[in-house]
Amino acid sequence: MEVDLLDSEHIQCPYALYEELQEHSGRGKDPNLGWIVSKYQDLVALAKNTELFSSSITEDGQGPRHMGVGTDSVPEDVEAIFTEAHTMVNALFTADPPIHTRHRKLVSKALSTTKIRALEPRIRKVTEALIESFFERGVVDILPEFAVPLPVMVIADILGVDKSDLWTFKRWGDLMISGNIDVLTHNQRLEVARAVVDFHAYFLPRIQQRRQQPTDDLLSDLVNAEIDGEPALRDEELLPIIDQILLAGHETTTNLITNGLVILCRRPELLARLTDDTAVVPAFVEEVLRWDPPIHCTYRRTTRNSNLGDVAISEGDMVIPLWAGANRDPAVFPQPERFDIDRENVRAHMGFGYGPHFCVGAELARLEARVAFETLLARLPGLALSESESDLTRLPSFASHGFQRVVLTFKPADSETVDPLKENGVPNDAVC
Ligand code: HEM
Repeated sequence: MEVDLLDSEHIQCPYALYEELQEHSGRGKDPNLGWIVSKYQDLVALAKNTELFSSSITEDGQGPRHMGVGTDSVPEDVEAIFTEAHTMVNALFTADPPIHTRHRKLVSKALSTTKIRALEPRIRKVTEALIESFFERGVVDILPEFAVPLPVMVIADILGVDKSDLWTFKRWGDLMISGNIDVLTHNQRLEVARAVVDFHAYFLPRIQQRRQQPTDDLLSDLVNAEIDGEPALRDEELLPIIDQILLAGHETTTNLITNGLVILCRRPELLARLTDDTAVVPAFVEEVLRWDPPIHCTYRRTTRNSNLGDVAISEGDMVIPLWAGANRDPAVFPQPERFDIDRENVRAHMGFGYGPHFCVGAELARLEARVAFETLLARLPGLALSESESDLTRLPSFASHGFQRVVLTFKPADSETVDPLKENGVPNDAVC
C-alpha cells in the first residue's frame, strides 16, 4: 500500500490510515521516506533484529547530526557550521549492539528506577509551583503555562542546567528533535547546525567540571558511570547521549500531558472517574500512550538486501517502525479505536517503542505524567476544554504528535459554580 505520511490530512488525523494499514498486512511504502511496518508482531521482530534493521540511520553511518530524514545531501553552508562542532559518534538511540548495549547499561544506571522514584518530591514541587501561578484565574493556556515548562524544568534540573539557561536549552531541544524525525528545509538545517554547535559549547566545559568534581545530578552520573570495569563514556559519546536525553525528555512528555487532557475533557465520565479515584491515573496514562501517543514512529536502515513479508528490500533502505500503528492492531488490542483504561494489556502498547531501544526515560515520563494529572485534577475542579480559544490542529510533524494550543477552563479558587462539561463529550470510538 502506498502512503504519503507527510500529507497534511494524515498529520491531522492519522488513525483512519493506520486502520487501513492494519487491514492490508500492516505494511506500506512512503516513496519519500521508506518502508512502513505497523503490525504489532512484525514490530516485535523488527525491533529485536538490530543486525538487519540498524538504528544508525545516516547514510555515512558517521553518527547523528540532526539533519532530518529527507534524502537530499547537507548543503555546504550547513557543513561549514558543523566544523565548529565537537566530533560525535553513533550513541545509544543511533547505535547498534555491541556499542548500544554498553551505552544502555551506563545510561540505565544513571536513570534507574530508584533514582527516578527519588525525583518525585522535586517533580511535585515544580508541578505545584506552576499551578500556583494560574489556579485562581479559572482559565489556563496549558502548553506555555504548564505542559511545556514542567518537563523542561525537570530535565534541565536533573541534567544540572542553570535556571537562566532553561529556555535556550528548550530551543536547542526543539530544533534537534525535529532534525531527528522530520524532513528539514535549508533554513531549518542552518538553525539546527548552529544549535548543535552552541549545545556542544555549553556542555563540554560542564562535562569536564563533573569529571573533576562530581555533583548530585544526572550529568555527573552519566559522566562518571562505570559498569563491569568498562571505561567511562568519552565526550564524543556523552554529547549525543546528553542531547538525546534533552530532546527526547521534554516535548514528548509535553504532548503526553496535553493529548491526555484533551481526551479527558472530551470524556466527562472518565474525567469524573479519575478525579474520584486517582489510583487509575497510571492506567489512563498508559492508554493515552496507546491511543494518541506523542511519538508515532522512529527510523531504521537496512544493512543488507532482505525481505519484508513478500516484498524485497535493499541494503540502505529506510524502514519506519510505526509504533502508533501497532497500537491500533486489533489482534493485540480488541476494538483498538475505543479509549479504554480497563484493557487487560493496557501497558502492552508501543508508545515507548519495543526491544533493545525501548525508551530509557519511560519511568521518568510516567512519573511526570502521573504527578501532573493527579495534581491538575485535584487543584482544578470542573476542568473543561475551551474549544473556541484552543487551536486543536496538530503540530506540523508526522512523527511527533501534539496540539498547537489547548486552553482549559476550571472553577477558579474563590468561585462557587462549576461549569458543566457535558457539551464537550464525544463518543468513545471517535477516531481522533
Ligand atoms: C511520553 C514521553 C516519551 C515518549 C512517548 C518516548 C518515546 C520513545 C520511543 C518510541 C523510543 C524508541 C525509539 C526507537 O526504538 O527507535 C524512545 C527511546 C528513547 N527515549 Fe523516550 N520517550 C519519552 C520520554 C523520554 C524521556 C523523559 C527521556 C529522557 C529522560 C527519554 C529518552 C529516550 C532515549 C535516550 C531513547 C533511546 C533509547 C535507546 O536507544 O536505547 N524519553 N522514546
